[in-house]
Amino acid sequence: MGGIFAAISKRSENTVPIVIEGLRRLKYRGADNSGIAVLLDGRIEIFKEVGSIEAVSAKLGLENISSRIVLGHTRFATHGRPTVENAHPHTDCGRRIAVVGDGALANYEDLRDKLLMEGHKITSRSDFEVVAHIFESLLNKEYQSSEFLKEIYSKMEGYFSFAVLEAEKQRIIATTNGPKLFYGLSDKYVLLSSSQYALHGFADQYGELSPGELIILSKDGPTIYTSEGLAKQVQSLPLQLDPILVEKGGYKHHMLREINEVPEALLRTLSSVQKRYLNLAGRLVTGADNIYIIANGTSLHAGMIASYYFSELAGISPIVTSAAEFPLYYLENVGPGTLVIAISQSGETGDVLSSLYEAKLRGATILGITNYVGSRLARLSNLYLPIAAGPELAVPATKTFTSTLQVLYLVALSSSRQKGKIEESEHKARLEAIKKLAQSLDERLAFIDSEAMKAAEKISLCRSGYVVSRGLTYPLALEGALKLKEASYFHAEGVEAGEFKHGPFVLVEQGFATIFIMPVEKVSSEATYPLIEMARQTGATVIVIGSENNQKLLELSQDDVTIIRAVETERHLAPISLALPLQLLAYRLGEKLNRPIDTPRHLVKAVTQ
Ligand code: F6R
Repeated sequence: MGGIFAAISKRSENTVPIVIEGLRRLKYRGADNSGIAVLLDGRIEIFKEVGSIEAVSAKLGLENISSRIVLGHTRFATHGRPTVENAHPHTDCGRRIAVVGDGALANYEDLRDKLLMEGHKITSRSDFEVVAHIFESLLNKEYQSSEFLKEIYSKMEGYFSFAVLEAEKQRIIATTNGPKLFYGLSDKYVLLSSSQYALHGFADQYGELSPGELIILSKDGPTIYTSEGLAKQVQSLPLQLDPILVEKGGYKHHMLREINEVPEALLRTLSSVQKRYLNLAGRLVTGADNIYIIANGTSLHAGMIASYYFSELAGISPIVTSAAEFPLYYLENVGPGTLVIAISQSGETGDVLSSLYEAKLRGATILGITNYVGSRLARLSNLYLPIAAGPELAVPATKTFTSTLQVLYLVALSSSRQKGKIEESEHKARLEAIKKLAQSLDERLAFIDSEAMKAAEKISLCRSGYVVSRGLTYPLALEGALKLKEASYFHAEGVEAGEFKHGPFVLVEQGFATIFIMPVEKVSSEATYPLIEMARQTGATVIVIGSENNQKLLELSQDDVTIIRAVETERHLAPISLALPLQLLAYRLGEKLNRPIDTPRHLVKAVTQ
């Protein structure tokens, strides 16, 4: 995945500097690799390397290259490590086209094997290289025809957009089935970008490509075709945006952007984790004598929720422990039959790495789950699965938490299927439910945010608080309290609802916030209402987060109880849905209290020692 930026000069001006600047602005989408494809004397030349566009530009001397048609890419590695071979653009066997892509191909491994069998020269482990080879066989077809689009979309599964530079016709063709793609226009240039913000200063007009559409960009401008192959009138809008927001893709803070990316990240994750590796992970889980899940912070909370998944879906009870505790108390029981599931967004957390190193010395198998496939965690693991949420620049983890939960859920489902506990049809239905949840979250996010803002207003008057829940959502209470601390410096503790009356209640009074996350188990949910009433009667500020379809919850809404409604989904996906209001609440409180949200004091993104 990554960011796409392309420019064609309407006359004969050099567009390399524009593409370099466009890619620099898209760096928040990933900068593991960067590259451009240019047309020099009618031939495609590729310049690509490891690192950000600035680093690559300096290393390869891109300022000395001149071309009026340039296709560029900045990459976040999900398929294949961040090596030069895996950098985009990719070419076909005859170098007649260059391809860049965003998102992920869910059937990449199958397509790759098929193309290799057909004799194509595939040189990387990057999923979008296969697009170049698929296009190769379609070069003489009418791109705008509905048959062509059908053929493309029947071959490729996943969540993706891509752009193809065609040497012979001196044009760029692009399509998307979800990831955003914008074209930009001025009297000098015809442009393509993953974000309209990156077009700032280069385009006066812009437009967005709808899923399933195809755009052909040439020096004469863009032509858009619908998925039925019909030419569509190009209706551009004036490009008017706040230049201050350009570097963060239109948001005031990276954290807010990253929360807004949660729905899309779920779809990216779903397409990035390849079926054959999930099956393998499922086999590791079902075949292990004993299983430990080790992680820290937010990743540990995801691991705690996963233990409910494994227990309920696969009848397996792993031990979940902080990676800081693991080497102190558990190594005696680690041996060749042990599976260690090591979770780390950064893949560089010191305690996780030293724990899995010790476990490996004792013969354990390591299943790594990380957002950075070039990390030491990925390298030390026997098998790793990508979180594939895209880069996370804010210190408080948000979209990587929800995508990590999703990966763990996928592994639990695979284990469940292998143990014969769920049928294939149920497995498929549960995967579909993830897509539906992502779509509903996208639609409801702005509304949830408006409710979180009201709740944050109330909490801002309190001195500290609890986040209370039970069962599957108890670890979410711990995570909510952690987010409040990091993003808003608000002191909060996560409390298991069953423990509420065993001590924690003593602090609840006026000026104290009690945030209840409604449990998803019926019995626990019923047992929570009396606790809400107890807290309310003390005069404390009460916030309740629950499903939008919970009628009883709506009846609670009154002056002293503020409700935040989360998207209704199936029970095991509820921690993903309910995480969003908690993350927004922490963000909005941080904003209200004027905290340095993206860079909280004393904290770093990866605790390497
Ligand atoms: C919380 C947060 C930290 C990290 C923890 C582990 O928002 O960012 O608690 O979750 O330091 O980091 P990784 O997952 O990179 O191992």
